[in-house]
Amino acid sequence: MHVTIFSTKPYDRVFMDAAGGGHRLTYVEARLTRDTCVLARGAQAVCAFVNDVVDAAVLDALKDMGIRLVVLRSAGFDNVDLAAAKRCGITIARVPAYSPEAVAEHAVALMLSLDRNIHRAYVRVREGNFALEGLLGFNLHGRTIGVVGTGRIGAGVARIMLGFGCRVVAFDPVRDADCEARGVTYMPLEDVLAAADIVTLHCPLTPATRHLIDKEAITRMKRGVMLINTSRGAIVETGAVIEALKDGSIGHLGLDVYEEEETLFFEDLSDHVIQDDVFERLVTFPNVLVTGHQGFFTTEALAAIAETTIANVTMFESAGKALHEVV
Ligand code: NAI
Repeated sequence: MHVTIFSTKPYDRVFMDAAGGGHRLTYVEARLTRDTCVLARGAQAVCAFVNDVVDAAVLDALKDMGIRLVVLRSAGFDNVDLAAAKRCGITIARVPAYSPEAVAEHAVALMLSLDRNIHRAYVRVREGNFALEGLLGFNLHGRTIGVVGTGRIGAGVARIMLGFGCRVVAFDPVRDADCEARGVTYMPLEDVLAAADIVTLHCPLTPATRHLIDKEAITRMKRGVMLINTSRGAIVETGAVIEALKDGSIGHLGLDVYEEEETLFFEDLSDHVIQDDVFERLVTFPNVLVTGHQGFFTTEALAAIAETTIANVTMFESAGKALHEVV
């Protein structure tokens, strides 16, 4: 099949070419949007990433070009208008699980860095500043970790934190028996927020979870709580979090995702003036650590993403049905 792959970087090509599958792969650097979808003309399938726009207008245009398959190089599909895909007769496929450990380990990396101020110590030591003032951390051992969403990634975080000697409490509408057997205590969301020293978000972005962490949710949390979001930016109301950082209600914030990340992340903007004032305010706090959506970015995860994406295309070509269909 001829597949046009949007939002590609050199590293995507390496892993997609290796997975191959005998398909004709055309790489496009641009994000998929209403303006760029025309680049897929001539292809039979489109491959999209997390910040590509797969809304009704894009799907209508793809349908008119004869495209019947959109394969996502991601687990989340909140960027896709599923009703429009169904109406257009376009199959949407995804990579449900490529390496939950990659994201789980990144969430823990954010926790450890923030707790022990590794991000600040790194800069200080390079400048010959060996003072410890301002770097005081706390032991993770004995602390309570609140996991919101114990799917593949959340369960991975729970396992790691249990290994640190933490108490792990969790909220998920669907309980995970393995988590419970390992000692995770499920409770209502309000109780998780009230009990946790660190709240870490691993639920998908849905209408129900949009701004799940807003001003009211923050008031339920312990003063000085650490909040980690490696899931989707819009689960957190950024304005409310900034106010909470200013008054000390939130003590540490670790983000791998951001509400308005599509205009920033995955690009080198170091020669540009960043226009997003909210984001710029966020990164001025010494107790905030932001990474640019790199939770998935390990060798193991990229290889698995490429292999599953190609498997989705191969199966659709031979059976008219992708391996991991969303619609
Ligand atoms: P999953 O589908 O295995 O688990 C999601 C869990 O959230 C499920 O157990 C579900 O029952 C639960 N859930 C649904 N609604 C909830 C709610 N209102 N409150 C609490 N829990 C709720 O998904 P997985 O693989 O663990 O991924 C989680 C999220 O992580 C994805 O939706 C995606 O947005 C994000 N992600 C981020 C990456 C990164 O690079 N930073 C990479 C991959 C995924």
